[in-house]
Amino acid sequence: MRTIRIAVAGTGYVGLVTAAVLAHVGHDVVGVDVDEERVRTLNSGGCPIFEPGLPELLEESRDNLTFTLDYREACADADVVFIAVPTPERVDGSANLKYVFASVEQVAEAMGSSCVVVVKSTVPIGTGDRVQRHLATLLAGTGREVEVVANPEFLSQGTAVKDMLHASRVIIGVESERAREVMARVYADLPSPLLFMERRSAEMVKYASNNFLALKIAYINEIANLCDLLGADIDDVARGMGADPRIGDKFLRAGIGYGGSCFPKDTKALHWLSSFHDREIKTVKAAIEVNAVQKISLIKRAHRYHSDFEGLTVAVLGLAFKPGTDDLREAPSLDNVAILLDAGADVRVWDPYAMDNFKRFYPDEVTYCASIPEALADADMCLILTEWPDVLSLDPAVFVEQMRHPLVLDGRNCYALDEMARHALVYESIGRRTVGTAR
Ligand code: UDX
Repeated sequence: MRTIRIAVAGTGYVGLVTAAVLAHVGHDVVGVDVDEERVRTLNSGGCPIFEPGLPELLEESRDNLTFTLDYREACADADVVFIAVPTPERVDGSANLKYVFASVEQVAEAMGSSCVVVVKSTVPIGTGDRVQRHLATLLAGTGREVEVVANPEFLSQGTAVKDMLHASRVIIGVESERAREVMARVYADLPSPLLFMERRSAEMVKYASNNFLALKIAYINEIANLCDLLGADIDDVARGMGADPRIGDKFLRAGIGYGGSCFPKDTKALHWLSSFHDREIKTVKAAIEVNAVQKISLIKRAHRYHSDFEGLTVAVLGLAFKPGTDDLREAPSLDNVAILLDAGADVRVWDPYAMDNFKRFYPDEVTYCASIPEALADADMCLILTEWPDVLSLDPAVFVEQMRHPLVLDGRNCYALDEMARHALVYESIGRRTVGTAR
């Protein structure tokens, strides 16, 4: 099969992973971005984002994957142009599409006789139609033709390469047989089933799926909070629920809620969109409200032991919104550290990858520690916010050895209760009984 010439506009973690995987399966791919530093890094063999497996994919595809600042160089003879630029949240929660339309206008100017424009960015339902109409206006009288396709991504940070190479499904919204044929060839050499549907339905699948996952997390966290009160164990409850294939055992991990660049943004965007059309999705509104409180629920527990935090030394293990990434977007660490500092605590932080990013928010206000024991040294309390492998594998004796008062508040249920009970410490987690008693 003749390889397809593909341009990818936007080389963030979605665009870059998309470009790398499509090059990996043999297409000729050109990534285009507005960020000079990023393009320079990519063309010199570097990888500007932290995603396991991505550097290797970029390295092996150097013959058929290049990067440029110039849309004409990327799109002039492209058969397919992916739009993978950011759609940041506006103040009112709606999705800001200025980068999408700026990119589309660059494509209209730079493209050849015809191409398929694939919107991979997360966009409100109906955006594909708007882009199609806008392109028709821009191309009127030029004899050039464009078809717009919706192809939302379901990549999780930290596993984005694996998620695309082995996607459970590829959702493709098309409005013509030709667009369908082109997209079938784009994805022909990937193992995932292709689910074709109309454009608006494909756009809705993205929002409906992400919001359902966020809802599932908010729900299990509310059940966990009730477990706390009633003495049930959320790990066993989740195990019992998850054994039902109708529920499924994924995304039932109770904790301090979700962060990241997607769930918070997609829940607010869908809630805004539904409210705008007088069809407010109340379940999503509830998930947003539940999550906001859950993120700082450890602070409330800490007040069971300390009426105030003035002068307390508090260790924070984990800053990134989840393991496997250095991303701090909507991370619970930002909310919790702000509260601790405001309350006069002396905060010591550790994270294997996200400390440099955290310094952009708190250059001097916290102590950055090179190891977990260093962070725990003489601490009166420890908050666990990210379940990094180094945290999961830590010998609980370290809490007792290093801390002045071994009070561990675990927001990610990292340890087995019976293991913690063997140590002279107090261990609080989410939806499970407290281990140990305050001395
Ligand atoms: C998510 C979706 O999974 C992905 O399909 C979409 O394309 C982008 O948004 P991501 O945000 O990268 O991916 O990470 P994910 O692994 O989904 O976790 C999101 C947040 O939920 C994290 O803060 C994580 O700690 C939290 N989470 C996840 C839970 O609290 N409990 C769970 O059971 C699962």
